[in-house]
Amino acid sequence: MKQIELISEINRLRHEKNAVIMAHYYQMPEIQDIADFTGDSLALAQEAQKTSADIIVLAGVNFMGETAKILNPAKKVLVPDINAGCSLADSCPAEKFAEFIAQHSDYKVVTYVNTTAEVKALSDICATSTNAKKIIEQLPENEKIIFAPDKNLGNYINSVTGRNMLLWNGACHVHEQFSVERLLDLKNAYPNAKVLAHPECKNVVLMLADFIGSTQALLNYATQSNEKQFLIATESGILHQMQKLNPEKEFIPVPPIDSTCGCNDCKYMRLNTLEKIYNSLLTEQPEILVNEEIRKKAVKPIEKMLKMSV
Ligand code: 13P
Ligand code: SF4
Repeated sequence: MKQIELISEINRLRHEKNAVIMAHYYQMPEIQDIADFTGDSLALAQEAQKTSADIIVLAGVNFMGETAKILNPAKKVLVPDINAGCSLADSCPAEKFAEFIAQHSDYKVVTYVNTTAEVKALSDICATSTNAKKIIEQLPENEKIIFAPDKNLGNYINSVTGRNMLLWNGACHVHEQFSVERLLDLKNAYPNAKVLAHPECKNVVLMLADFIGSTQALLNYATQSNEKQFLIATESGILHQMQKLNPEKEFIPVPPIDSTCGCNDCKYMRLNTLEKIYNSLLTEQPEILVNEEIRKKAVKPIEKMLKMSV
């Protein structure tokens, strides 16, 4: 089917089935452009909690679909490609994490939403990169905290809050891969450009950044800034929204190590296509299902996070 026909079929099906398409900022431009709602991890969770649609098509990765299902179990939650995992979620298997928590039973357990439902079920509070600082600052200063799975985000939050959280040794394969050498070359080539970096990046990259923030925070910064050029150290999908909202500004992606390509893409996010979205609406598959016992435990830390983010 041609792209124009696919879009028209997607539109027909979403209206017929009262479905909503939610897309993360790391989706391909054509998916962001047809989505009913586009946002970062926190915004997608908030939107999934309040939607009145019968079907949620979550164009992102599986943990985002699971979060939507956990928050709104009466809805049918579909993902375009069931293989859209996440290297951060994979770095924290529930059985190993349960053992780790058992060894530190006097710690509060804060987990990034980039985890499986099973790991969320073991947690006291969830966090995203948008609200992690705010959430940690609301915990008593003497509280012992485990933060998992992203060690880079954990280190960054430790540095801005003065806490000494115990960190799980996980990382995102995209954000770990930014090349410092190529970033320095770009800074030379664009001496007036501001460097915007996601806190999942390594500390050496964050040290070169003019602004550090979640995907939404980077977009807001770029939009509100009077500067004209920006070097972007996060998944390259966000450049689409940055450029759309700021056509007069220039956004240059920071490339990864060992790549001839200029962009750093998440291989999981890029599994989704318009065709797969169409197929998921047509067949109502693949559907995200979460065991009810796990869901009841996992919903508590997510709801706590949403309350603490207001
Ligand atoms: P945010 O959406 O919180 O910026 O997280 C980035 C990310 O890696 C999502 O998978
Ligand atoms: Fe996971 Fe990193 Fe991809 Fe986000 S960008 S989905 S954290 S692998």
